[in-house]
Amino acid sequence: MRKSWDHFYQLTQDKSPSAGLVKAISLLGHTGEALDLGCGVGRDTRYLLAQGFQVTAVDREAKAIVTLASLSTPHLYPVQSTFEDFTFASYALINAHFALPFLQTGVFSTVFARLKRSLKPDGIFVGQFFGIHDTWNVAGNPMTFLTREQALAELVDLKIMEFEEEDADGETAEGTTKHWHVFHIIVCKHSPPKIE
Ligand SMILES: C[S@@+](CC[C@H](N)C(=O)[O-])C[C@H]1O[C@@H](n2cnc3c(N)ncnc32)[C@H](O)[C@@H]1O
Repeated sequence: MRKSWDHFYQLTQDKSPSAGLVKAISLLGHTGEALDLGCGVGRDTRYLLAQGFQVTAVDREAKAIVTLASLSTPHLYPVQSTFEDFTFASYALINAHFALPFLQTGVFSTVFARLKRSLKPDGIFVGQFFGIHDTWNVAGNPMTFLTREQALAELVDLKIMEFEEEDADGETAEGTTKHWHVFHIIVCKHSPPKIE
């Protein structure tokens, strides 16, 4: 497990938003309440604010939340919390960029079910799950790694807009070589059926 996110935060502080988030916003087609889960120092939070969303930004690291709070921006609600303890409200868009796999296997499905319930009808989730071929999937690492079938099973009640499997060598933000096995996901919550 990672001891500190400090170096990662230094490297990502001024990064442009994730491509998945940019795509998800254009698919959504409107603004509203957004949740940035595992916001780090806010590359995606800042983009959501600039696009006109009201953003709840959640991370368990004080450094991340202090950095965002210092923006003193209206429509930004930074919350220092674990995903497990966070009380979800209701959102048009939920972004979790490289964040949910850090949940322990035993709580992953419970937290993801809460996340799904908190999406508004037609709301969009964008984020990643990690696959079992990932370098970090070693004995003793409590993070969550899923087979393709397990990943799709988590999404079974949602409309899949994008589901891309990356299974390739690459680098971390810090420049360390690793094998990435990642499912890049954009999904939409079905609207309830109309009663005539
Ligand atoms: C890889 S970083 C991604 C940060 C940000 N989304 C980005 O793309 O720059 C993962 C973030 O998730 C946070 N995190 C990991 N597990 C968490 C948990 N169980 N509860 C709350 N935050 C968590 C970490 O503190 C870290 O800031």
